[in-house]
Amino acid sequence: MADTARIALDGKELDLPVVRGSAGEVGIDIAALRRDSGAITVDPGYANTGSCRSAITFIDGEQGVLRYRGIPIEQLAERSHFLETAMLLLDGELPAREALGSFMSHITYHTMVHEDVRSFYEGFPKRAHPMAICGAVVGALSTFYSDSLDMHDERQVEISIHRLIAKLPTIVAYSYKHSIGQPFMYPRNDLGYAANFLHMMFATPCEDYVVDAQIARTMDTIFLLHADHEQNCSASTVRMVGSSMANLFASIAAGVHALWGPLHGGANQAVVEMLRQILATGDRGSDYLDKVKNKAAAGVRLMGFGHRVYKNFDPRAKILKKLCFEVLDRVHASTPLLDLAVELEEIALRDEYFISRKLYPNVDFYSGIILQALGIPVDMFPTLFTIGRLPGWIAHWHEMIRDPDARLARPRQIYTGPTQRDYVAIDDR
Ligand code: CMC
Repeated sequence: MADTARIALDGKELDLPVVRGSAGEVGIDIAALRRDSGAITVDPGYANTGSCRSAITFIDGEQGVLRYRGIPIEQLAERSHFLETAMLLLDGELPAREALGSFMSHITYHTMVHEDVRSFYEGFPKRAHPMAICGAVVGALSTFYSDSLDMHDERQVEISIHRLIAKLPTIVAYSYKHSIGQPFMYPRNDLGYAANFLHMMFATPCEDYVVDAQIARTMDTIFLLHADHEQNCSASTVRMVGSSMANLFASIAAGVHALWGPLHGGANQAVVEMLRQILATGDRGSDYLDKVKNKAAAGVRLMGFGHRVYKNFDPRAKILKKLCFEVLDRVHASTPLLDLAVELEEIALRDEYFISRKLYPNVDFYSGIILQALGIPVDMFPTLFTIGRLPGWIAHWHEMIRDPDARLARPRQIYTGPTQRDYVAIDDR
């Protein structure tokens, strides 16, 4: 196999090194391209650009494969749990029993946020989107923990990681309590990670709230399924911000904001809103699909379908579809949204428009229906994605700051504006 790729430009030939990944992926290393040829590459949306070497997550989008540190997502969803999977992502290996116990204990004992953080919430409008609050409060954590911002000190990094993973569910649950005007519920150290989150969301000081073990397990699995997805928009944002040597809290806050958009982590909210809108019109989906296919208006898409990398079933969607039926059965919820989603999926998978573009259900198609059945308000959905994705973002940030090849992320451009011209005085314009 050739270990160089040759390009010819303006009569000059250039050999570029070929890089091969452990699962056979091939890349052309263009680091010397501009120096040796004067040219750059152009790749809107970076669909063909490898921004780094990474040993965290592998995706084969053609085959519908997702593995964290080599372990298939299906095995992790069935046999692991979120905090163990977080350790796998962060450290590269499944933890030994003692290390796992110590990590879980650190997380448990860092779940409270500083009391002064609570006063921030009073300043946010009641109708504030929880992702806006989440990004703002995560960024503000750096003001409370200025003792642990040195990214070259592994102990400080470790403490920041514990604080972030432990406090994010508290920050998210507080945003919900603020929006509905209920008292904030302190974390409970006798509960597991997902169960404690459900407690902070749904308990009140007036009465006991018993967390259903199966529902807590479902919540945990949802977090686990979202825990990483290699160089997606938000992980790349975290890496990009971190490449300027911004601290971990600032880098993660940037990731939260990147995740908010409806083409990324906001899609689970968009799916449920789309399904409700279709139901309200009395349509069984075919009118809506016609609008999608005719591109009737900018941005009308079958939300929860399609993916930049998967050109086959998203393996997470398969697991979530099964979970969706189990949860709705467990909470005895009526199923019009699920029924409609299944119908839409069936129609779309038979339709030439979706087949030819290789558009399949993604992670967001069924997750929103589950969250809704659990009583989570729609605008909170992306914040749950955020809790899940946090270990992945941290693993990428950590990998980047330890990578000797990492540099300040600073893409180039092809300038298409006016060439040099003279300033014109205001009276002469
Ligand atoms: N519904 C209808 N048409 C679609 C859809 C969709 N959901 N997704 C892509 N297409 C069409 C698109 O219009 C284009 O058609 P044409 O060739 O006629 O112009 C073609 O498929 C290629 O689309 P693209 O926008 O160039 O593809 P992309 O890789 O840039 O977009 C995507 C990926 C996820 C942004 C897109 O599929 C989409 O908007 N999906 C709906 C939003 C969604 O579910 N997002 C969650 C993604 S998974 C969670 C995460 O990783 O954040």
